[in-house]
Amino acid sequence: MNTAAIDQTNARSLDSTTASMVDPFGRAVTYLRVSVTDRCDFRCTYCMAEHMTFLPKKDLLTLEELHRLCSAFIAKGVRKLRLTGGEPLVRKNIMFLIRELGKEIEAGRLDELTLTTNGSQLSKFAAELVDCGVRRINVSLDTLDPDKFRQITRWGELTKVLEGIDAALAAGLKVKINAVALKDFNDAEIPELMRWAHGRGMDLTLIETMPMGEVDEDRTDHYLPLSEMRKRLEADFTLKDIPYRTGGPARYVDVLETGGRLGLITPMTHNFCESCNRVRLTCTGTLYMCLGQNDAADLEDDAYLAQVIDDAISRKPKGHDFIIDREHNRPAVARHMSVTGG
Ligand code: 5AD
Ligand code: SF4
Repeated sequence: MNTAAIDQTNARSLDSTTASMVDPFGRAVTYLRVSVTDRCDFRCTYCMAEHMTFLPKKDLLTLEELHRLCSAFIAKGVRKLRLTGGEPLVRKNIMFLIRELGKEIEAGRLDELTLTTNGSQLSKFAAELVDCGVRRINVSLDTLDPDKFRQITRWGELTKVLEGIDAALAAGLKVKINAVALKDFNDAEIPELMRWAHGRGMDLTLIETMPMGEVDEDRTDHYLPLSEMRKRLEADFTLKDIPYRTGGPARYVDVLETGGRLGLITPMTHNFCESCNRVRLTCTGTLYMCLGQNDAADLEDDAYLAQVIDDAISRKPKGHDFIIDREHNRPAVARHMSVTGG
Protein backbone atom coordinates (compact mmCIF):
# COMPACT_ATOMS: atom_id res chain seq x y z
CA MET A 1 0.00 0.00 0.00
CA ASN A 2 1.36 3.47 -0.76
CA THR A 3 1.45 6.18 1.86
CA ALA A 4 -1.54 8.10 0.54
CA ALA A 5 -3.64 4.95 0.52
CA ILE A 6 -2.55 4.13 4.05
CA ASP A 7 -3.47 7.61 5.24
CA GLN A 8 -6.85 7.41 3.60
CA THR A 9 -7.58 4.00 5.03
CA ASN A 10 -6.41 5.17 8.39
CA ALA A 11 -8.65 8.22 8.42
CA ARG A 12 -11.64 6.21 7.28
CA SER A 13 -11.23 3.46 9.84
CA LEU A 14 -10.42 5.77 12.73
CA ASP A 15 -13.55 7.81 12.14
CA SER A 16 -15.84 4.87 12.13
CA THR A 17 -15.87 3.61 15.70
CA THR A 18 -15.69 4.47 19.36
CA ALA A 19 -12.45 5.72 20.82
CA SER A 20 -11.83 3.29 23.64
CA MET A 21 -11.29 -0.40 24.08
CA VAL A 22 -12.94 -2.19 26.99
CA ASP A 23 -13.11 -5.97 26.95
CA PRO A 24 -16.05 -8.16 28.05
CA PHE A 25 -14.55 -8.40 31.54
CA GLY A 26 -14.46 -4.63 31.99
CA ARG A 27 -10.71 -4.35 31.51
CA ALA A 28 -9.65 -1.25 29.59
CA VAL A 29 -6.97 -2.04 27.05
CA THR A 30 -4.44 0.77 27.30
CA TYR A 31 -1.21 -1.10 26.69
CA LEU A 32 0.02 -2.39 23.35
CA ARG A 33 3.05 -4.60 22.96
CA VAL A 34 4.49 -4.84 19.49
CA SER A 35 6.87 -7.55 18.43
CA VAL A 36 8.74 -5.81 15.60
CA THR A 37 10.70 -8.90 14.57
CA ASP A 38 10.72 -12.58 15.49
CA ARG A 39 14.50 -12.65 14.96
CA CYS A 40 17.15 -12.33 17.61
CA ASP A 41 20.92 -12.35 17.79
CA PHE A 42 20.68 -14.74 20.77
CA ARG A 43 19.11 -18.19 21.10
CA CYS A 44 18.14 -18.43 24.77
CA THR A 45 17.53 -22.08 25.48
CA TYR A 46 14.14 -21.56 27.20
CA CYS A 47 12.98 -19.24 24.40
CA MET A 48 14.21 -20.67 21.10
CA ALA A 49 15.45 -23.84 19.51
CA GLU A 50 19.02 -23.62 18.25
CA HIS A 51 17.91 -23.89 14.64
CA MET A 52 14.89 -21.67 14.33
CA THR A 53 12.89 -21.09 11.20
CA PHE A 54 12.08 -17.42 11.15
CA LEU A 55 9.41 -15.67 9.14
CA PRO A 56 10.42 -14.88 5.58
CA LYS A 57 11.31 -11.18 5.42
CA LYS A 58 8.63 -10.58 2.77
CA ASP A 59 5.90 -11.52 5.29
CA LEU A 60 6.90 -8.73 7.66
CA LEU A 61 4.93 -5.53 7.80
CA THR A 62 7.02 -2.54 6.85
CA LEU A 63 7.88 -0.10 9.60
CA GLU A 64 5.42 2.35 8.01
CA GLU A 65 2.67 -0.26 8.24
CA LEU A 66 3.55 -1.03 11.85
CA HIS A 67 3.42 2.68 12.59
CA ARG A 68 -0.01 2.92 11.02
CA LEU A 69 -1.29 0.07 13.19
CA CYS A 70 0.25 1.59 16.33
CA SER A 71 -1.41 4.92 15.51
CA ALA A 72 -4.77 3.21 15.20
CA PHE A 73 -4.33 1.73 18.68
CA ILE A 74 -3.24 5.07 20.11
CA ALA A 75 -6.35 6.66 18.61
CA LYS A 76 -8.35 3.97 20.39
CA GLY A 77 -6.94 4.70 23.81
CA VAL A 78 -3.59 2.93 24.09
CA ARG A 79 -1.37 5.06 26.37
CA LYS A 80 1.62 2.80 26.72
CA LEU A 81 3.50 1.06 23.99
CA ARG A 82 6.31 -1.45 24.29
CA LEU A 83 8.44 -2.69 21.42
CA THR A 84 9.65 -6.25 21.82
CA GLY A 85 10.82 -9.08 19.62
CA GLY A 86 12.76 -11.23 19.20
CA GLU A 87 15.27 -8.48 19.67
CA PRO A 88 13.69 -5.18 18.57
CA LEU A 89 17.03 -3.46 17.98
CA VAL A 90 18.15 -5.97 15.35
CA ARG A 91 15.30 -4.96 13.04
CA LYS A 92 16.74 -2.87 10.22
CA ASN A 93 16.05 0.84 10.55
CA ILE A 94 14.00 0.32 13.73
CA MET A 95 14.92 3.81 14.93
CA PHE A 96 12.62 5.16 12.23
CA LEU A 97 9.61 3.60 13.98
CA ILE A 98 10.86 4.60 17.42
CA ARG A 99 11.28 8.19 16.30
CA GLU A 100 7.79 8.28 14.78
CA LEU A 101 6.26 6.84 17.95
CA GLY A 102 8.27 9.26 20.05
CA LYS A 103 6.37 12.07 18.31
CA GLU A 104 3.16 10.65 19.79
CA ILE A 105 4.61 11.20 23.27
CA GLU A 106 5.59 14.72 22.39
CA ALA A 107 2.05 15.36 21.14
CA GLY A 108 0.59 14.02 24.41
CA ARG A 109 -1.16 11.12 22.71
CA LEU A 110 1.00 8.49 24.39
CA ASP A 111 2.29 8.38 27.98
CA GLU A 112 5.13 5.98 27.54
CA LEU A 113 7.22 4.30 24.87
CA THR A 114 9.47 1.53 26.12
CA LEU A 115 11.26 -1.50 24.86
CA THR A 116 12.36 -4.90 26.01
CA THR A 117 15.81 -5.71 24.71
CA ASN A 118 18.60 -8.20 25.27
CA GLY A 119 21.01 -5.27 25.50
CA SER A 120 23.38 -6.40 22.76
CA GLN A 121 22.85 -3.28 20.64
CA LEU A 122 22.39 -0.74 23.41
CA SER A 123 25.87 0.78 23.20
CA LYS A 124 24.94 1.85 19.71
CA PHE A 125 21.38 3.03 20.34
CA ALA A 126 21.03 4.23 23.95
CA ALA A 127 21.56 7.94 23.31
CA GLU A 128 19.27 7.95 20.29
CA LEU A 129 16.53 6.17 22.25
CA VAL A 130 16.58 8.96 24.82
CA ASP A 131 16.49 11.51 22.04
CA CYS A 132 13.33 9.84 20.69
CA GLY A 133 11.55 10.10 24.04
CA VAL A 134 12.22 6.65 25.50
CA ARG A 135 12.72 6.94 29.25
CA ARG A 136 12.64 3.36 30.54
CA ILE A 137 13.79 0.06 29.09
CA ASN A 138 13.80 -3.55 30.23
CA VAL A 139 16.94 -5.54 29.64
CA SER A 140 16.76 -9.33 29.78
CA LEU A 141 19.73 -10.76 31.62
CA ASP A 142 19.74 -14.10 33.42
CA THR A 143 23.29 -14.37 34.72
CA LEU A 144 26.45 -12.33 35.33
CA ASP A 145 28.74 -15.28 34.68
CA PRO A 146 30.20 -15.00 31.14
CA ASP A 147 30.31 -18.79 30.61
CA LYS A 148 26.80 -19.31 31.85
CA PHE A 149 25.66 -16.36 29.78
CA ARG A 150 27.09 -18.00 26.69
CA GLN A 151 25.44 -21.27 27.70
CA ILE A 152 21.94 -19.85 28.20
CA THR A 153 21.96 -17.49 25.20
CA ARG A 154 23.97 -19.94 23.04
CA TRP A 155 25.38 -17.01 21.05
CA GLY A 156 25.56 -14.07 23.42
CA GLU A 157 28.52 -12.17 24.76
CA LEU A 158 28.08 -10.87 28.29
CA THR A 159 30.57 -7.99 28.06
CA LYS A 160 28.66 -6.51 25.13
CA VAL A 161 25.43 -6.55 27.13
CA LEU A 162 27.08 -5.06 30.21
CA GLU A 163 28.56 -2.29 28.08
CA GLY A 164 25.11 -1.72 26.64
CA ILE A 165 23.57 -1.42 30.10
CA ASP A 166 26.28 1.06 31.10
CA ALA A 167 25.57 3.10 27.97
CA ALA A 168 21.85 3.10 28.75
CA LEU A 169 22.40 4.28 32.32
CA ALA A 170 24.89 6.91 31.16
CA ALA A 171 22.33 8.18 28.64
CA GLY A 172 19.84 8.62 31.49
CA LEU A 173 17.56 5.68 30.75
CA LYS A 174 15.87 3.95 33.66
CA VAL A 175 16.79 0.29 33.33
CA LYS A 176 14.94 -2.70 34.73
CA ILE A 177 16.61 -6.08 34.56
CA ASN A 178 14.41 -9.08 33.73
CA ALA A 179 15.68 -12.53 34.64
CA VAL A 180 13.97 -15.84 34.05
CA ALA A 181 14.46 -17.86 37.24
CA LEU A 182 15.78 -21.27 36.27
CA LYS A 183 16.28 -24.09 38.72
CA ASP A 184 19.84 -25.41 38.81
CA PHE A 185 20.95 -22.69 36.44
CA ASN A 186 20.74 -19.24 38.01
CA ASP A 187 18.71 -19.76 41.20
CA ALA A 188 21.81 -19.71 43.42
CA GLU A 189 22.97 -16.54 41.69
CA ILE A 190 19.77 -14.50 42.09
CA PRO A 191 20.88 -12.78 45.34
CA GLU A 192 24.07 -11.63 43.60
CA LEU A 193 22.17 -10.51 40.51
CA MET A 194 19.82 -8.54 42.75
CA ARG A 195 22.65 -6.86 44.68
CA TRP A 196 24.32 -5.97 41.40
CA ALA A 197 21.14 -4.49 39.86
CA HIS A 198 20.10 -2.62 42.99
CA GLY A 199 23.63 -1.32 43.44
CA ARG A 200 23.26 0.39 40.06
CA GLY A 201 19.82 1.80 40.74
CA MET A 202 18.07 -0.80 38.59
CA ASP A 203 15.02 -2.82 39.59
CA LEU A 204 15.19 -6.58 39.09
CA THR A 205 12.18 -8.61 38.01
CA LEU A 206 12.10 -12.38 38.11
CA ILE A 207 9.95 -14.38 35.69
CA GLU A 208 8.78 -17.98 35.79
CA THR A 209 9.54 -19.95 32.65
CA MET A 210 6.42 -20.28 30.50
CA PRO A 211 5.59 -23.21 28.20
CA MET A 212 5.68 -21.33 24.90
CA GLY A 213 7.04 -22.83 21.69
CA GLU A 214 9.14 -25.92 21.13
CA VAL A 215 12.67 -25.64 22.44
CA ASP A 216 15.43 -28.24 22.46
CA GLU A 217 15.29 -28.91 26.17
CA ASP A 218 12.71 -30.03 28.69
CA ARG A 219 11.43 -26.89 30.42
CA THR A 220 10.22 -28.88 33.42
CA ASP A 221 13.88 -29.52 34.27
CA HIS A 222 14.37 -25.86 35.07
CA TYR A 223 10.94 -24.74 36.17
CA LEU A 224 11.17 -22.88 39.44
CA PRO A 225 8.08 -21.48 41.16
CA LEU A 226 8.84 -17.99 42.38
CA SER A 227 7.03 -18.68 45.63
CA GLU A 228 9.96 -20.98 46.37
CA MET A 229 12.53 -18.43 45.19
CA ARG A 230 10.94 -15.83 47.43
CA LYS A 231 11.22 -18.11 50.45
CA ARG A 232 14.86 -18.69 49.71
CA LEU A 233 15.55 -14.97 49.36
CA GLU A 234 13.80 -14.30 52.64
CA ALA A 235 16.55 -16.23 54.41
CA ASP A 236 18.93 -13.37 53.60
CA PHE A 237 16.74 -10.40 52.80
CA THR A 238 13.76 -8.60 54.25
CA LEU A 239 11.09 -8.37 51.55
CA LYS A 240 8.20 -5.99 52.03
CA ASP A 241 5.17 -6.14 49.72
CA ILE A 242 4.44 -2.76 48.18
CA PRO A 243 1.60 -1.53 45.94
CA TYR A 244 4.05 -0.17 43.31
CA ARG A 245 3.02 -1.04 39.72
CA THR A 246 4.51 -0.36 36.33
CA GLY A 247 1.44 -1.27 34.32
CA GLY A 248 2.59 -4.85 33.95
CA PRO A 249 1.81 -8.08 35.76
CA ALA A 250 4.77 -7.84 38.18
CA ARG A 251 4.11 -7.61 41.91
CA TYR A 252 6.82 -5.72 43.75
CA VAL A 253 8.60 -5.92 47.06
CA ASP A 254 11.07 -3.52 48.62
CA VAL A 255 14.30 -5.16 49.65
CA LEU A 256 15.39 -3.56 52.89
CA GLU A 257 19.05 -4.61 52.73
CA THR A 258 19.68 -3.28 49.22
CA GLY A 259 17.22 -0.39 49.17
CA GLY A 260 16.05 -1.66 45.76
CA ARG A 261 12.87 -3.08 44.29
CA LEU A 262 12.28 -6.69 43.28
CA GLY A 263 9.46 -7.63 40.90
CA LEU A 264 7.93 -11.08 40.65
CA ILE A 265 6.06 -12.21 37.55
CA THR A 266 4.26 -15.43 38.30
CA PRO A 267 2.24 -16.59 35.31
CA MET A 268 2.51 -20.18 36.46
CA THR A 269 1.88 -20.06 40.20
CA HIS A 270 -0.50 -17.14 40.26
CA ASN A 271 -2.84 -16.19 37.50
CA PHE A 272 -2.28 -12.49 36.94
CA CYS A 273 -4.93 -12.12 34.29
CA GLU A 274 -7.57 -10.24 36.24
CA SER A 275 -5.76 -6.94 35.83
CA CYS A 276 -4.62 -7.56 32.24
CA ASN A 277 -4.69 -4.31 30.27
CA ARG A 278 -2.77 -5.35 27.17
CA VAL A 279 -2.91 -6.84 23.72
CA ARG A 280 -0.04 -7.93 21.51
CA LEU A 281 0.68 -7.20 17.91
CA THR A 282 3.14 -9.28 15.87
CA CYS A 283 5.39 -8.10 13.05
CA THR A 284 3.01 -9.67 10.53
CA GLY A 285 0.03 -7.69 11.82
CA THR A 286 -1.58 -10.43 13.87
CA LEU A 287 -3.22 -9.25 17.06
CA TYR A 288 -3.18 -11.65 20.01
CA MET A 289 -5.57 -10.79 22.79
CA CYS A 290 -3.74 -13.05 25.27
CA LEU A 291 -0.17 -14.32 25.50
CA GLY A 292 -1.39 -17.77 26.46
CA GLN A 293 -4.29 -18.27 24.03
CA ASN A 294 -4.44 -18.87 20.31
CA ASP A 295 -7.30 -16.63 19.25
CA ALA A 296 -6.03 -13.80 17.06
CA ALA A 297 -7.15 -11.17 14.58
CA ASP A 298 -5.43 -10.31 11.34
CA LEU A 299 -5.01 -6.56 11.02
CA GLU A 300 -2.95 -6.54 7.89
CA ASP A 301 -4.16 -4.21 5.15
CA ASP A 302 -7.62 -4.00 6.56
CA ALA A 303 -9.75 -1.12 5.40
CA TYR A 304 -11.93 -1.21 8.51
CA LEU A 305 -9.13 -1.36 10.99
CA ALA A 306 -10.87 0.21 13.97
CA GLN A 307 -13.80 -2.17 13.59
CA VAL A 308 -11.56 -5.19 13.35
CA ILE A 309 -9.78 -4.02 16.52
CA ASP A 310 -13.10 -3.57 18.37
CA ASP A 311 -14.18 -7.00 17.29
CA ALA A 312 -10.90 -8.51 18.51
CA ILE A 313 -11.12 -6.77 21.89
CA SER A 314 -14.64 -8.13 22.34
CA ARG A 315 -13.07 -11.59 22.17
CA LYS A 316 -10.30 -10.95 24.69
CA PRO A 317 -10.33 -14.05 26.88
CA LYS A 318 -10.51 -13.99 30.65
CA GLY A 319 -7.05 -15.45 31.00
CA HIS A 320 -4.49 -18.07 30.16
CA ASP A 321 -4.14 -21.45 31.78
CA PHE A 322 -0.52 -22.34 31.39
CA ILE A 323 0.49 -25.66 32.74
CA ILE A 324 3.88 -27.22 32.41
CA ASP A 325 2.82 -30.47 30.77
CA ARG A 326 5.08 -32.99 32.44
CA GLU A 327 3.43 -35.98 30.85
CA HIS A 328 3.61 -35.05 27.20
CA ASN A 329 6.33 -32.41 27.38
CA ARG A 330 4.37 -30.16 25.06
CA PRO A 331 4.28 -26.38 25.19
CA ALA A 332 0.92 -24.90 26.18
CA VAL A 333 1.01 -22.63 23.16
CA ALA A 334 2.90 -23.60 20.03
CA ARG A 335 4.24 -20.18 19.12
CA HIS A 336 7.44 -18.92 20.68
CA MET A 337 7.56 -15.91 22.97
CA SER A 338 9.63 -14.18 20.28
CA VAL A 339 6.59 -14.17 17.98
CA THR A 340 4.19 -12.46 20.38
CA GLY A 341 6.78 -10.60 22.40
CA GLY A 342 7.77 -11.26 26.00
N1 5AD B 1 9.20 -18.15 29.61
C1 5AD B 1 9.47 -17.05 30.35
N2 5AD B 1 10.11 -15.98 29.88
C2 5AD B 1 10.53 -16.03 28.61
N3 5AD B 1 11.18 -15.13 27.87
C3 5AD B 1 11.34 -15.63 26.64
N4 5AD B 1 10.81 -16.87 26.55
C4 5AD B 1 10.29 -17.14 27.76
C5 5AD B 1 9.59 -18.24 28.33
N5 5AD B 1 9.31 -19.33 27.62
C6 5AD B 1 11.59 -13.83 28.43
C7 5AD B 1 12.96 -13.35 28.11
C8 5AD B 1 12.81 -11.87 28.27
C9 5AD B 1 11.38 -11.60 27.94
C10 5AD B 1 11.22 -10.91 26.65
O1 5AD B 1 10.74 -12.85 27.89
O2 5AD B 1 13.94 -13.79 28.94
O3 5AD B 1 13.09 -11.43 29.57
FE1 SF4 C 1 16.38 -13.43 22.08
FE2 SF4 C 1 15.08 -12.63 24.25
FE3 SF4 C 1 14.49 -14.99 23.15
FE4 SF4 C 1 16.83 -14.64 24.37
S1 SF4 C 1 14.81 -14.54 25.34
S2 SF4 C 1 16.51 -15.61 22.39
S3 SF4 C 1 17.32 -12.54 23.93
S4 SF4 C 1 14.18 -13.03 22.23
